[in-house]
Amino acid sequence: MAARITASLLAALWLFAHTCGVWAVVEVNMEEKVEVFREQTAQITCMYTSDEGIGGTSVEWFIVTRSGDMEKIYFQDSFQTKIEPDTPYTSRISVNRTGAGVVVLTINKVQLEDEREFICQIQSFTEGISKGSTNLRVFERPKLPTIEGRTEGVAADQNELTEIGTCEVKNGYPKPNITWYRGENPLQSIPNEVEVSSSTTTESTGLFSVQSKLSLNVKKEDKDAEFYCEVTYPLPGSSAMTETDHINITVFYPSTELYVWVESPEGKIKEGDTVRLRCSGNGNSPSSVLTFKHNDVDIPGDTNVNVLENVSRQDSGVYQCTSIDMNTFLELSNTTTVNVNFLDAAVMTPSESVIMAVGQELEATCNALSSLQTQTIWLKDGEEVAKGHIVTLKATSIDTAGTYMCVVTVPEVDGMETNNTLRVFVKSSPVLSEDDVTEVETKEEMVLLSCYARGFPVPVITWGTHADKDEDFTGGGLVSSFICLLT
Ligand SMILES: *[C@@H]1O[C@H](CO)[C@@H](O)[C@H](O)[C@H]1NC(C)=O
Ligand SMILES: *[C@@H]1O[C@H](CO)[C@@H](O)[C@H](O)[C@H]1NC(C)=O
Ligand SMILES: *[C@@H]1O[C@H](CO)[C@@H](O)[C@H](O)[C@H]1NC(C)=O
Ligand SMILES: *[C@@H]1O[C@H](CO)[C@@H](O)[C@H](O)[C@H]1NC(C)=O
Ligand SMILES: *[C@@H]1O[C@H](CO)[C@@H](O)[C@H](O)[C@H]1NC(C)=O
Ligand SMILES: *[C@@H]1O[C@H](CO)[C@@H](O)[C@H](O)[C@H]1NC(C)=O
Repeated sequence: MAARITASLLAALWLFAHTCGVWAVVEVNMEEKVEVFREQTAQITCMYTSDEGIGGTSVEWFIVTRSGDMEKIYFQDSFQTKIEPDTPYTSRISVNRTGAGVVVLTINKVQLEDEREFICQIQSFTEGISKGSTNLRVFERPKLPTIEGRTEGVAADQNELTEIGTCEVKNGYPKPNITWYRGENPLQSIPNEVEVSSSTTTESTGLFSVQSKLSLNVKKEDKDAEFYCEVTYPLPGSSAMTETDHINITVFYPSTELYVWVESPEGKIKEGDTVRLRCSGNGNSPSSVLTFKHNDVDIPGDTNVNVLENVSRQDSGVYQCTSIDMNTFLELSNTTTVNVNFLDAAVMTPSESVIMAVGQELEATCNALSSLQTQTIWLKDGEEVAKGHIVTLKATSIDTAGTYMCVVTVPEVDGMETNNTLRVFVKSSPVLSEDDVTEVETKEEMVLLSCYARGFPVPVITWGTHADKDEDFTGGGLVSSFICLLT
């Protein structure tokens, strides 16, 4: 009831003042807030309407203290201008009355403590008193945020929270916000899965530093995830955002499959080779131990590579690799079969040597025992003369005689080769070689005579001494003939 009376009284007064030109009221208009960076200059504008001129109004500026009291910092009327002594603003403010109805309070070197309410009060001698207020908001852009990821690996699926990393942003005002991301997705605390814990420090300067730790119940998929922090912070009239670098973590997970294979040599294995067997799982858990077995017999050592030197056919068989994860005691094993190929010494029939008569034919065979298909070629004096495990030798003449070599190879495998030889003699009466029956070499007072003969059995050479001696003087020379006899 009383309120309604007051309201209607005021309305009546207002109507009266406006129609009669007296009883007007002062009206003050101010922005709700003014935003400014620390150390910069803030300007708070106080607008008012009054029918009085500058001379008929006084201006007062107040601050609202922490305890909520009003403290005057400035006063001005037509007689005096006074900056109040001993206030935090005594040396930092100025007031500019630009024309009618506008008063600007300028604050230099704005500090965090200046974040408060400023009141402008206008008093008119005829129109009464009115005031308005503006909140001053102060900002400081924080330093670039940092991220520190965990360096040690984490075993997956431990069902416990493990610290992944820490983000920090320093010296911002107001308090910056940190949000963790895994890939595209912002992370929020979920019991037993994700824990984001932040702590804020107020520096001696009054600026805020924020630290945020991320802990996760690490899963295998996290090995491929990238983590980072996004920092958001307000600025005058807007807000801004920065990101940290992206980090990842090493996740250890046990194998679900195990593979064992011959790493080298490539292709078929032969006796004498060095064989490297490798065993590897599709996990990366450092706590898994590998062991090898050959035909169910343990091979000493616990590395993932097993080197067999100078293998023989006895090394053929099944190799088994077993992996035991020392955390989970999960056991996996797999096998590979190694086949060491061999080629024994070549066996020739007839062996070593054979005597043939001219016109005789002979079947010779040559082969070697092998785990693989073999091929035989025959050489005589280094020239290939036949192919195949069986050849027919025909003693057409004494020229058939000689040393025959059979070379047995395994075409599939380089370097698998063996050979054997057969000496063939062809029976024939001795004959002198056509080319050099006699070769003469003169040495001072001595003459060396040579006589070459072929035949089987080996011919015996005798020299006919002075037999059928024939002397002949031609040009003072002396000719003496000797006879080379074959038997
Ligand atoms: C007061 O405001 C006027 C108009 O904006 C300007 O020209 C003048 O420099 C100001 N004076 C001070 C002391 O800031
Ligand atoms: C993890 O980070 C390292 C170094 O920053 C990088 O070399 C590697 O490729 C990253 N791995 C993944 C899966 O992103
Ligand atoms: C910071 O986070 C709080 C709570 O989530 C939110 O109310 C505030 O608006 C955020 N500030 C910025 C600048 O994003
Ligand atoms: C054993 O090895 C084979 C061939 O690499 C693979 O296909 C199989 O999945 C493996 N078995 C296990 C139990 O790891
Ligand atoms: C390889 O083993 C065989 C017997 O299996 C042996 O006679 C030979 O000397 C060995 N070679 C080397 C290089 O150790
Ligand atoms: C025959 O075998 C011997 C001994 O293995 C070898 O030294 C020789 O080179 C081989 N000869 C040929 C022509 O293959």
